[in-house]
Amino acid sequence: MNRRAGEIPVALRTEADVAAAEPDSEGARVLLVDDDERNLLAVATVLEDLGEVVLARSGEEALRHLLKGEFAVILLDVYMPGMDGYETAQIIRSRDQTKGIPIVFLSAVNKEAEHLLRGYSMGAVDYVFKPVDPIILRSKVAVFVELFEKSKEVERKARHEQALLDANLRANAERLRAEQELRRAEQRQSAIIQSLPMVLYLDPYGASPRRPTYVSGDFEAITGFRLNEIAEDSTLWRDRLHPEDRDRVLAAMEARRKTGRSSIEYRWQCADGSYKHFLDQAVLLKDVDGKPVEFAGTLTDVSEQRSLESQLIQAQKMDAIGKLTGGIAHDFNNLLAAVIGGLSLIERRAVLADDQQRLLGMTKRAAEQGSELVRRLLAFARRQRLEPRAIDLGPLQEAVSDLLSHTLGGLVNLEWRVEDRVWPVFADQSQLELALVNLIINARDAMPDGGTVTLIAENRHVKDEEIPALLAGDYVRLAVRDTGSGISPEHLEQVMEPFFTTKDVGKGSGLGLSMVYGFAKQSDGAFRLESEIGKGTTAELWLPRAPEGAKAKEASEPELSRRELPPLKVLLVDDHPEVRSTTAAVLEDSGHQVFEAANGAEALALLKDRTSDFDLLITDYAMPNLSGTDFLREARLLCPDVPALLITGYAETEMIRDKPEGVETLLKPFTPAALDAAMARVRPSEKVSS
Ligand SMILES: Nc1ncnc2c1ncn2[C@@H]1O[C@H](COP(=O)(O)OP(=O)(O)OP(=O)(O)O)[C@@H](O)[C@H]1O
Ligand SMILES: [Mg+2]
Repeated sequence: MNRRAGEIPVALRTEADVAAAEPDSEGARVLLVDDDERNLLAVATVLEDLGEVVLARSGEEALRHLLKGEFAVILLDVYMPGMDGYETAQIIRSRDQTKGIPIVFLSAVNKEAEHLLRGYSMGAVDYVFKPVDPIILRSKVAVFVELFEKSKEVERKARHEQALLDANLRANAERLRAEQELRRAEQRQSAIIQSLPMVLYLDPYGASPRRPTYVSGDFEAITGFRLNEIAEDSTLWRDRLHPEDRDRVLAAMEARRKTGRSSIEYRWQCADGSYKHFLDQAVLLKDVDGKPVEFAGTLTDVSEQRSLESQLIQAQKMDAIGKLTGGIAHDFNNLLAAVIGGLSLIERRAVLADDQQRLLGMTKRAAEQGSELVRRLLAFARRQRLEPRAIDLGPLQEAVSDLLSHTLGGLVNLEWRVEDRVWPVFADQSQLELALVNLIINARDAMPDGGTVTLIAENRHVKDEEIPALLAGDYVRLAVRDTGSGISPEHLEQVMEPFFTTKDVGKGSGLGLSMVYGFAKQSDGAFRLESEIGKGTTAELWLPRAPEGAKAKEASEPELSRRELPPLKVLLVDDHPEVRSTTAAVLEDSGHQVFEAANGAEALALLKDRTSDFDLLITDYAMPNLSGTDFLREARLLCPDVPALLITGYAETEMIRDKPEGVETLLKPFTPAALDAAMARVRPSEKVSS
């Protein structure tokens, strides 16, 4: 509140004024308590310039003032009506808030010691006697005012210092919190970077072609190199690029300096010598002036994806080659049937000179070799006729060792490691023997200086997706291991393809592994190769465990002895003219009368004409429009009792499911003797003679 000119400030101020002014009143205040208005005015005037003088006309009013503000000193009249000075002093002293304020009694009478003592015991610090000597009063009050102001000053300073201290503490705490936050953020960031399946890097813009200044933690784990090894050696990165990728990658690195970004995939040789596929992507970082500074990028190891992709492509390729090979082999099989049949006929019918006989023999052997080749191709194409049975590996071991006894030579030693109680496998015995012989001969060929071929047989339980191409279940792993030359990674993908061979012309046909591969697949097993150049190769054949109660191979059936068949009337159906006429010739050669039909419809027409005239129906299986089995079914309607023989290729045996009862099959290519035997099976001589 502003003081107006000429006004006596103290006397006119009300309690409310004081209360409102108190929060910002800085100076010392004096509380003057007296019931006499004149005294109040007189004393107030004396003290006016020492500070603000607050007036109270009774003890009660004084106490009210004391509730609201601080005072440097209280001047208290001893005698007042109602509550006197002593009582007022006692109450002031009894309150915590006010007990420290000095009290000076104003007293007109009673200067006796007894009164003075009472006053002091009530809390007075001094006495001033009325009539008041202004100089004494002023100087006494001035002491208290000064004391009050000093103590206020000290308090203010202390508060100020405390405030500074608090601010400092707060700032420190704030900084500490910020630092902790930063550290936490850094830890989080580095944890993220560490666990990313990729490397982050920084490449200076000018470095040629690559000398990173930073790589994230996984780099060493992935590549086997430390940052400084790459950063300090200016050619290391370039030198370890795969030779086939190098030019392309270096061109891309050059281009990224212009475009500001790059995304390249390449093979790179790690410290352990193996190549990994990396996806390398980067963007250019510039400074505030737009000047290029460095490339920030990521290096991702995509080797596994690429390997899965190439496995898939490889499997698809093998499948496609298999289909193609199977188709070709099937056609060749038909032709060879005609060739072998024809040759046999010539042999039987013609009287040949010695050199002609030799020539014929050579031609026949060549045709038989062709037939063997076709058989292997069909095996690769998974189109051979298999007769899977339970096979015990003990006897198999003997059979294979016998087969190889003359082949391995003195330098190569064959060692069997067959697990105790190895399960019987479910497969075609002769094909399994052949597969093992193929693998062992490959192993021998890989060790020209000799060594040991180890054949391991062990039980394995395969979980789902543990081995690609194998369903979960029990298998026997047959591994043929050598310590020979090994197969290079580029060749490893190709060796199972038919006709891939590194052997000299005439030494290898390149069909061995193809056959094993096809056999494993067709037997619901798997075949894989592991190899390291210079260290050796392990070829693994996984075959399913034979189901409980599966039939073991019976003692081989005695060859049906050729029976003399009386001349028969034969209806021969084949859409292939050469094959048909060769077969007809063979039949005629044995004294039979042959009627030829080029397809099912033609044959049915013949049957309708001469019902019951025929003694035997011989038909090819694979024919357009009407298959052999379809034809036989219709033929049975016309002549239910006539025996029949179905001729099939290896490929078709799987497909023939609806063969009419009592019909025998004969596999192509066949010899005249095989044809005779098959005819004897469907047409026993006693039945014929009846
Ligand atoms: N154990 C092995 N060690 C090293 N190389 C091998 C091994 N097995 C196979 N190979 C390589 O794989 C190629 C193909 O083998 P595959 O058995 O299919 O045909 P091949 O042995 O050449 O001829 P064949 O038809 O007579 O078996 C071989 O020429 C050889 O280069
Ligand atoms: Mg081979």
